[in-house]
Amino acid sequence: MSETARIILDGKEYELPVIVGTEDEKAIDISKLRSASGYITIDPGFKNTGSCKSAITYLDGENGILRYRGYPIEQLAEKASFLEVAYLLIKGDLPNQKELDWFVNSITKHTLVHEDMKRFFEAFPTDAHPMGILSSMIASLSTFYPESQNPNRSIEDVELTMHRVIAKLPTLAAQAYKNNMGHPVVYPNNGLSYTENFLQMMFGLPTEDYKVNPVVNDALNKLLILHADHEQNCSASTVRIVGSSQANLYSAISAGIAALWGPLHGGANQAVIEMLETIKNDGGGLQKWVDKAKDKSDSFRLMGFGHRVYKNFDPRAKIIKKAADDVLDALGIDDPVLEIAKELEAVALKDQYFVDRGLYPNVDFYSGIIYRALGIPTDMFTVMFAIGRLPGWIAQWKEMVEMGEPIGRPRQVYTGANDRNYVDISNR
Ligand code: CMC
Repeated sequence: MSETARIILDGKEYELPVIVGTEDEKAIDISKLRSASGYITIDPGFKNTGSCKSAITYLDGENGILRYRGYPIEQLAEKASFLEVAYLLIKGDLPNQKELDWFVNSITKHTLVHEDMKRFFEAFPTDAHPMGILSSMIASLSTFYPESQNPNRSIEDVELTMHRVIAKLPTLAAQAYKNNMGHPVVYPNNGLSYTENFLQMMFGLPTEDYKVNPVVNDALNKLLILHADHEQNCSASTVRIVGSSQANLYSAISAGIAALWGPLHGGANQAVIEMLETIKNDGGGLQKWVDKAKDKSDSFRLMGFGHRVYKNFDPRAKIIKKAADDVLDALGIDDPVLEIAKELEAVALKDQYFVDRGLYPNVDFYSGIIYRALGIPTDMFTVMFAIGRLPGWIAQWKEMVEMGEPIGRPRQVYTGANDRNYVDISNR
């Protein structure tokens, strides 16, 4: 017999189904509670609420486990290519060679963006944040492909939209960078891999061949894989909820980019480097900053520390910390900020405040140091996160559509004024 939960409300007992996942994760299904009892549940920030059943990513925050479609993140980061992981997330299984070739070829064919989009770039201020540009540009792609707005289109059409967005995001990101620099745009080179192509569009010149450094390319591949999905985080939930209204995929991804931008989510990678720079320039020791982070009357937090679900360690941070050492070594870079990061980690991890709350470095703590070593400017860090997270967003959107999930529409407990009559302005 399947398990049930019993809840007593106003003296009446209600039996609620219990759902058990493949890793024995358990949930009480409260979807019919309101119609039966008049009660809803409340959980600001969805700290204890499952919004869906999902077969994409498994995350065990207590034990620091992260798997995409069952494959441990450590193995994928070590052995796979980013597009192979994208295929895995979206399609559900690792591709064989033929499937991978089809996927890579299709994406490679769609890397160009419409020339008319150049005029959008010209209209942004030269110091516009690239995340704002990227979110706008991805939303505007839907106007170039109006068929994507039809929620009843064929599976092939939907697949084409997915490939287009994966293909065009790096092109748009690199164009945003070139525009900010006032440099000529470098077009995609379809003879290169996904990551090589991005690097040449970022750092190449239209007039000469760009030689991709394999150390840089490998590090980028690893970083993108580590960011590729993270189950129902803020941006993935945003993509699912926007998509649940049957808005087109471009709009849902654009909303995901906007959600990612915030410093409590993907924007933390930029905030970490800015924090470490401030600490370096301050020159006043680390304890002061740890104390500030603990002081409840001070809004300062240690950026790159803490996570909603990881309370032991973030497995991505573990891989990235090692990668940061390897990349800086291989490129012969001595970045004092890496030393400050390590010292800060050591001080914070010994501090009872951080121990008690399970606050550990997260994925964003060391990723910025690698991005810097690769030559990526600070305000492009969150853009890198977005490029990595894109296959996850697409997989989450696709799963939501395929499962026929209803439109996302939470309820609330109203705490405002009771019924009252309109008062004429002369009497207020
Ligand atoms: N520095 C100092 N104190 C912190 C920090 C921090 N970075 N993070 C959490 N706390 C404290 C917080 O003040 C609270 O203390 P108390 O229980 O005394 O009120 C306790 O730890 C729990 O924090 P919370 O804000 O309730 O936890 P949350 O799950 O709502 O927030 C978080 C998670 C990631 C937003 C938060 O840890 C944070 O703001 N971290 C810094 C920003 C950051 O690095 N974000 C990137 C997350 S990883 C990338 C991604 O997937 O988005």
